[in-house]
Amino acid sequence: MSKTHKTQVCIIGAGPSGLLLAQTLANAGIDSIVLDRKDRAYIEGRVRAGVLEQGSVDALIDAGVSSRLQAEGIPHGGFDLAFGGVRHRIDLEGLTGKSVTVYGQTEVTKDLFDARFGQGQSFFFNVEDVRPSDLKESKPKVHFQHEGCSITVECDYIAGCDGFHGVSRQAIPADVINTFERVYPFGWLGILVERPPVNHELIYANHERGFALASMRSATRSRYYIQCKLEDDLIDWSDDRFWGELAERLGPETAACLQTGPSFEKSIAPLRSFVTEPMRYGNLFLAGDAAHIVPPTGAKGLNLAIADIRLLSRALIEHYNSGNDSHLDTYSHTVLKRVWKVERFSWQLSNLMHQFPHHTPFEKHMQRAEFDYIASSEAASTAIAENYVGLPLE
Ligand code: APR
Ligand code: PHB
Repeated sequence: MSKTHKTQVCIIGAGPSGLLLAQTLANAGIDSIVLDRKDRAYIEGRVRAGVLEQGSVDALIDAGVSSRLQAEGIPHGGFDLAFGGVRHRIDLEGLTGKSVTVYGQTEVTKDLFDARFGQGQSFFFNVEDVRPSDLKESKPKVHFQHEGCSITVECDYIAGCDGFHGVSRQAIPADVINTFERVYPFGWLGILVERPPVNHELIYANHERGFALASMRSATRSRYYIQCKLEDDLIDWSDDRFWGELAERLGPETAACLQTGPSFEKSIAPLRSFVTEPMRYGNLFLAGDAAHIVPPTGAKGLNLAIADIRLLSRALIEHYNSGNDSHLDTYSHTVLKRVWKVERFSWQLSNLMHQFPHHTPFEKHMQRAEFDYIASSEAASTAIAENYVGLPLE
């Protein structure tokens, strides 16, 4: 059996990018169809980072999905960088007048699903063989299989929000697309635990045994990470081994406050910097992880995705409301200018805070000197702070 559906915007991917776009367009009276190769429960179960810039919080408020975020999100006015046992607080509020909000990406995704379900939003889950076509035509199409049926969605625009492993980016001809990548020679081993956080703010630590991060989800739930080898297996990381390693890397003073317990989530993630140019081809627009990846140091992945969607939804709304395409035409250029700056910050913080296997003694001294400079200079601390709280949209 085969069927054709018509809509204004076909959104490939129901992660935070796709869902926020669907919600923002719906608020402006623009019709969309969202499809994903997984189902809602799977998507909501993915554990990701948990720090929102003020601009991201504002976007979620504007989209009408912030009631739980505003009740449960924890405002943070600063965080610590630690190097070889010395802790330096980056006073976000004092240096920039802004703060960040700790609220898990999992919760953002749940709030967006809650807002779209039962609101006339068309969803197709567990789809297969997704194939965008006719990208340069005025009515591009997305073809896919769903519950044994061949479906074609005919639309005005396709939003490629299908993450790093999606098909949208691959639909752009190879002679048009440029990609830039850096893969880091280590991963992050992360756990969630039902214990109060070791500190009331986040601590990013560089210790000679490797990086560690103390983060949180609430006053009773903590999220911890340690740098591990890319080839490490979860089987080799018992909770006891994890806690021992984390305590060493945080140092004795901090570790004295560490409340350990059984982890209820444990995973290893590789670190990657990746950018695609351009982020538009014909009537296909890329947003979020489909177009760019940052290493998690600095928690910019979700924030970048939300910034893309703020610009893309503004451009689409302008097109439908007034026939003005100027922001659609400048979307890729405008977004990429900001993306590269955020890539730079995530790369800089990753370089500063990790132990690199190939580093020479000279490079180790450079890292130490950079930390000492940040810790002794308000200008350098302010540069870190203004990136951490979020750069302007354009
Ligand atoms: N067809 C349909 N859906 C797909 C396909 C495909 N071929 N490939 C991937 N998807 C879906 C995935 O199942 C996922 O639900 O696209 C969605 C992409 O979601 P994310 O990977 O979360 O990407 P994005 O919405 O851009 O969110 C960016 O999430 O990945 C984190 O660190 C990232 O925090 C950042 C944020
Ligand atoms: C998290 O809480 O998962 C987190 C926080 C900050 C980061 C990365 C991840 O930089």
